[in-house]
Amino acid sequence: MKVEVIAKPLAQVQADAVVIGMHAGERRPALVAALDAGAHGLLRAVLDAEKFQAKAAQVTHVHTAGRLPAARVVVVGLGERRGSAHETLRRAASAGVRRARDLGARAVAVQMPADGLSPRERAQAVVEGAILGTYAFDRYKKEKPDKAVETLSVLAPDARSVRETREGASVGEVLARATWFARDLVNEPANEVNPTHLARVAAKIAKDGSLDLKVYDRAQCEKMGMGAFLGVAQGSEAPPKFIHLTYTPSGRARKRVAVIGKGITFDAGGLDLKTAEGMLRMKDDMSGAAAVLAVFTALPALKPAVEVHGVIPATENMPSGSAFRPGDILRAMNGTTIEIGNTDAEGRLTLADALCYAREHVKAQEMIDLATLTSACVVALGPSCSGVMTNNQPLADRFLKSAERAGERMWQLPLIDEYREHLKSEVADLNNVGPRGGGAITAGLFLKEFAGDTPWIHLDIAGPAFVEKAGPLTAPGATGAAVRSILGYLLAEGGTRRS
Ligand code: BES
Ligand code: ZN
Ligand code: ZN
Repeated sequence: MKVEVIAKPLAQVQADAVVIGMHAGERRPALVAALDAGAHGLLRAVLDAEKFQAKAAQVTHVHTAGRLPAARVVVVGLGERRGSAHETLRRAASAGVRRARDLGARAVAVQMPADGLSPRERAQAVVEGAILGTYAFDRYKKEKPDKAVETLSVLAPDARSVRETREGASVGEVLARATWFARDLVNEPANEVNPTHLARVAAKIAKDGSLDLKVYDRAQCEKMGMGAFLGVAQGSEAPPKFIHLTYTPSGRARKRVAVIGKGITFDAGGLDLKTAEGMLRMKDDMSGAAAVLAVFTALPALKPAVEVHGVIPATENMPSGSAFRPGDILRAMNGTTIEIGNTDAEGRLTLADALCYAREHVKAQEMIDLATLTSACVVALGPSCSGVMTNNQPLADRFLKSAERAGERMWQLPLIDEYREHLKSEVADLNNVGPRGGGAITAGLFLKEFAGDTPWIHLDIAGPAFVEKAGPLTAPGATGAAVRSILGYLLAEGGTRRS
């Protein structure tokens, strides 16, 4: 889908479909009136006849039969004028553009009414919604859908706002394309995506964006003392890779942030083998890693004034004769010894060494880790909400604000001190599992041991990373969870150096 910005009176736009938004309870919506001036009241007549109420994401359409230069008009409801305007627009753009596509439109123009957002914000939300909502993973299908939108024209409200609209549209496109990138990488099966594949993808991103990249192999990780990461990796035929990408802004960096993603390319559970059903979607256990890589596809275009380090401990978690065992004791990079209570709690082991690395080798001033870490988090918050845990409340507050703006549901869970006991071991400094209750928090407390005094947030994306059912902005399968929240956060912290 090509995205462009045009400044033209709505009634003069030539397209296969024009998509407009309309608020509920308005007698004379401006965009309907603008079209009807050219179409002699056609739209109003149809909307009245259908008793169209403009509820949020309600959609109807009209064939103009030559009364307008556009062949069809798609009207999307925006509901009452309240709530999160950004997310309302994303969902409306998604619903409207999907309808236009299903009607066979290839050139689609979109305009949303003024609603308290700037033209820049409006254009960003519209493009995000249109691109996110039309994602499909059909790489492995012989038959591809023949209906697709080729050009998306975003209408600037007036000639003065063309530049702003263009900037918003371009940020929206970068964010949505990065999300698509993460979705593709997670949907791709584990027989393709192994640690070596992730390292190759990182190399391509580094080359395209002129970024620094280091990839450590098993021997190099051993030298650095990554016993926890390598313990997980020892059962797999696929060699582990520890990936470190760096984005350096052109001017002075406001701070140095490490973004750390769980990269288990397949989680069979190890010797504590999962059930057949439990294993079924475990190609998605590298969703954190995919989000980190996606962030790095976008940073060179967004140019925030923060130094960003992407850290990915990539391995499979497999059962085999060489696999680590329940009862084994591993030594993490910072010397902490860990008794293995369950080999299926492997993500925290790999992240422990990644957090140590981000502190010691990157000297990160802030760390964000994200992981499909626990099924307990899915039990707690359901399929559409990520858990957020932190050792630094101001950081969590700032991040949660960015998540809210991105329309991604995230909810903070407390790192309850008393539960630290649940991780006690008789023979080592820590056990890698606790009792069943509060499993998302125990996992967070385990990671906290390795975050030390560096401000840190942990995102448990086990629920939203991969979904059974389509959502307003997502298809079944991988969602690219947290990509836009993290990019939004980095932009908010760093400002932007776009020219
Ligand atoms: N990758 C899983 C977590 C997971 C499960 C994500 C289901 C998405 C859906 C993780 O490695 C795991 O297996 N965690 C165990 C931990 C337990 C053994 C303490 C879990 O959550 O059951
Ligand atoms: Zn596991
Ligand atoms: Zn896992």
